[in-house]
Amino acid sequence: MKTRVIEFLEENKGKSVSGSEIAAKLNISRAAVWKIINNLKSEGYIIEAVTNRGYCLKEKSDIISETSIKMNLKTKSLGNELQVFKTVTSTNTLAKDLTQNGAKEGLVVISEEQTDGKGRRGRSFFSPSKTGIYMSIVLRPQIDINDTLFITVAASVAVAEAIETLTGASVGIKWVNDLFINEKKVCGILTEGAIEFESRKLEYAILGIGINFSTKNEEFPNEIQEIAGSIVQLENSKCTRSQLIGEVLNNFEEYYNNLTDKGYMDFYKNHSNIIGNNVIIVGDETKEVYKAIDIDDQARLIIKDKEKKVLIWCIVLGLIVVFMYITDIKCIIKATIGVPCPTCGMTRAWISVLHLDFAQAFKWHPIFPIAIVVVYLIIDNGNPKKWFKMLLMFTVILLLAVYIYRIITLGLSTPPLDINKNSLLFRAIGLFR
Ligand code: BTN
Repeated sequence: MKTRVIEFLEENKGKSVSGSEIAAKLNISRAAVWKIINNLKSEGYIIEAVTNRGYCLKEKSDIISETSIKMNLKTKSLGNELQVFKTVTSTNTLAKDLTQNGAKEGLVVISEEQTDGKGRRGRSFFSPSKTGIYMSIVLRPQIDINDTLFITVAASVAVAEAIETLTGASVGIKWVNDLFINEKKVCGILTEGAIEFESRKLEYAILGIGINFSTKNEEFPNEIQEIAGSIVQLENSKCTRSQLIGEVLNNFEEYYNNLTDKGYMDFYKNHSNIIGNNVIIVGDETKEVYKAIDIDDQARLIIKDKEKKVLIWCIVLGLIVVFMYITDIKCIIKATIGVPCPTCGMTRAWISVLHLDFAQAFKWHPIFPIAIVVVYLIIDNGNPKKWFKMLLMFTVILLLAVYIYRIITLGLSTPPLDINKNSLLFRAIGLFR
C-alpha cells in the first residue's frame, strides 16, 4: 500500500492532494493514509501537509527507498532483494561480506552515503550524502575469468544508456569504466570478485557503481573539482535517483543475461571518448603515452605501437635531411655547423627566418624542419588538446608543402641571395657574423 501512496504522490509531485482523495483512490481509510504519510516522512520524503488542501510531495524530494526503487524496476531477478542504507563504509565491502555469508545473486546494496567509498587502484571514491548513487550488485556468473571484463563493460553501457535516456545528456565512456559528461567524470565502476582456482571460474563478483547525481561543483574536494562533475542540477531535473537506479538495473539485467552475445559492444565503442586520443599507460614505476586506436571484441584497448611511430618519424626525418643534403651539400654543411658560406653567405637561413621566408630557411638549414618535427613529436607524446594537435599538424604540413613548392620552383641549385644588402636588417645581422 505504501508503494501505491508514493506512486500517487509522485504522479502529482508538486501539487496538493487531499487525504480523502488518496483514501478514495486507494480504497483505504484516511487514518491509514495519514499513517503511511508519516512513515514516508520519517524515511526522508519531503511531504508538506497544508490545512484544507492536503499533502504535497515537494519537487525536491528525491529519496532512495526500497519502495521508490521497486516502482521503477522491470527486472526478473536483479534487485528482487534490495538493502537500502542511510550510511555505510562502502557498499562493495558490505556486499562482499553478505556474499561470503551466502547472499544470492541479484542482491543490490544501496546507500545514501559512504564514509569509505572505494575507487580503483586503491583510491577513494567521494560519496557525499543525498547527492549521489552508491550501489553494489551481487553477481554469481558462470563465466571464465577471461570474460570478467565484460561485466564492467556491460555495466558502463547500462549506466550510460540510462543517463542518456533520463537526462538527455550525452555520455562519453573512458575505457574501461569511467563515464564522462562535458569532459567531467560523473560515474566510476569498481568490480571486485573471487576466483575458484580449480575451475578458473568466478566464484562471485561485486559490481560497484558510483554516480555523482547532483553534487555541486563547489561541494567536491578541491583536488577533484576540475575533473569531477554531476549528471543533473537538481533545480532543473525531473529525474530522481530511484528512477535512475531502476533504469540502470533494467538495462544491466538484459546485458548480463546475454553477456557473451556482447550486444552492448557497439554502444560501448561508439561512446568511447578515447579512441583516436592519447592514453597514459601507468605501470608500477612508469607512465607512457600511447595513441588509442580501437577497442577489440574482447573489450581490450588497442594502442598504436610507439616503436613503429618513432621509426616512421625517423625515416621521414632521414629523408628530409638526405633531400636537403642533395640540394646543396657544401652550403648545408656549413650552415649546419654555423660557418658562413663564402659564396652565398650562409646566414641566409637566418635571414630568411627573419624575413619570414620559411621555405628558404628550410632549404638552407636542415635544423628548421627537423626542429618542427621534433617539437611535433614532443607535443604529440604529451597529451595536448585535440584542436592544438590539429593546428600543429596543419602548420607542419603547410610549411613542408611551401618548402617542397619552393624547391620545385627554384630548382636544386643555389639561387642568388635576394636581399637588399644595405637594409638595416642585413647590416644588423652582419654585426654578428
Ligand atoms: C573508480 O572510479 O575508481 C571506481 C569508483 C567506484 C565507486 C563505487 S560506489 C559503490 C561501490 N562501493 C564502493 O566503495 N565503491 C563502488
